[in-house]
Amino acid sequence: MVRGGRMERRSHDRAATSGQPRRRGFMSRLLTLGTLGMTAMIVLAACGPSEDKPYSTTSPASPTADDIQSLYKLVFWLSLIVFVGVQFAIVYTSLRFRRSRDTTERPPQIHGSKRLEIAWTIIPAIVLLILLIPTITTLYDHDAAAQDGDIVVDVYGKQWWWEIEYGEDKAQGGQSLDVHTANEIWLPVGKKAQINLRSNNVIHSFWVPRLSGKLDVIPGHVNTLSITPEEVGTFYGECAEYCGAQHAWMRFTIHVVPEDQFYAWVNNWRSAPPSSAKKGAENTPGVVKAPDAFSVCLACHRVNGMEGSVTPKGINAPANMGPDLTMLACRETIAAGMLENNPENLAKWLKDPGAVKPGNYMATQIGPGKVELTDEQITELVDYLESMKPAGGCADAQGWAGGAATPVASPVASPVASPMATPETGS
Ligand code: CUA
Repeated sequence: MVRGGRMERRSHDRAATSGQPRRRGFMSRLLTLGTLGMTAMIVLAACGPSEDKPYSTTSPASPTADDIQSLYKLVFWLSLIVFVGVQFAIVYTSLRFRRSRDTTERPPQIHGSKRLEIAWTIIPAIVLLILLIPTITTLYDHDAAAQDGDIVVDVYGKQWWWEIEYGEDKAQGGQSLDVHTANEIWLPVGKKAQINLRSNNVIHSFWVPRLSGKLDVIPGHVNTLSITPEEVGTFYGECAEYCGAQHAWMRFTIHVVPEDQFYAWVNNWRSAPPSSAKKGAENTPGVVKAPDAFSVCLACHRVNGMEGSVTPKGINAPANMGPDLTMLACRETIAAGMLENNPENLAKWLKDPGAVKPGNYMATQIGPGKVELTDEQITELVDYLESMKPAGGCADAQGWAGGAATPVASPVASPVASPMATPETGS
């Protein structure tokens, strides 16, 4: 009764200051303002060049990402219609059906109305069906597409970096490319890569917003997705499932390049330019001889073609194995996207990896109180590691450094495998 009295007084006060026409004006202004605000939000969200938003899901560069964006748009517009409809209904009914100032009777009650109950059960069910059907179809399509590819790439989630292992390549007659690297995946444009995701530690999640959906990397189970990049360029990815202290620093990049550049990169890796430390082998021009201190590194790291470099790779690798260091000088970052790859940062990393990336495995072996590398050893190691590049120089994602003609397999003898041919294709 107290409440009823208060309401009556309030509506009486309002009635004294505002009439019916004024209330209608307020309602239309409210609606206009809401519509304008919503339009501004949509326009702001959609504008800006895609290169400014490397992690954007709204600038797809592969058919998979395209499909995901179509679903996103469908969900967005349907939600917007529902949102505006519901808000309008709330505002409209509360203004239109409120008790007028000169009645004290309750307005007609509609509780238990069969017609309304049916309507607000069926309408949401239809909306959900409109969302469900294309979502399920897309999921199954993507799953089917991931069952094969032109190139197979095995990706292992580690704590906290990505091991990359190239398998069969249809363009090489199904032969394995047998390339091992870390944190930077090279792909030829327009070719379908079948990416097998594996882990032998905890659950990670592989995500390159502009190229693919998110997919978990689960111990004991292989998850597969496919990527057919349609644009040349560098695409950024990261781990999207909390996996420990350095989850935030488990980044990777995908370099999409023309096919001939991809095979040039493969050949450079396979001819193992930095393996000059192999006993009796000729030094690759420009590559420094491995210092003695490098034997400490070889306990956990591999270098392609180097004698004594026997650390297991792939799924057989122990969880504390380190990244393959072949062509390290050509990587853009160290510590999985944490530091720019330059001599100062590499020295900082070798001095005390635990101070740079607390909790990482290397910090359990190297650093204060463990194996302490002297400044001289660090200088030698940095000189060596930063010289690990092919005779023709490193490639960048937009083409080879210096803009020179694409170098094919370097003239260095291939200790590991014969060079891969660039397939003759129209693309
Ligand atoms: Cu790996 Cu988060």
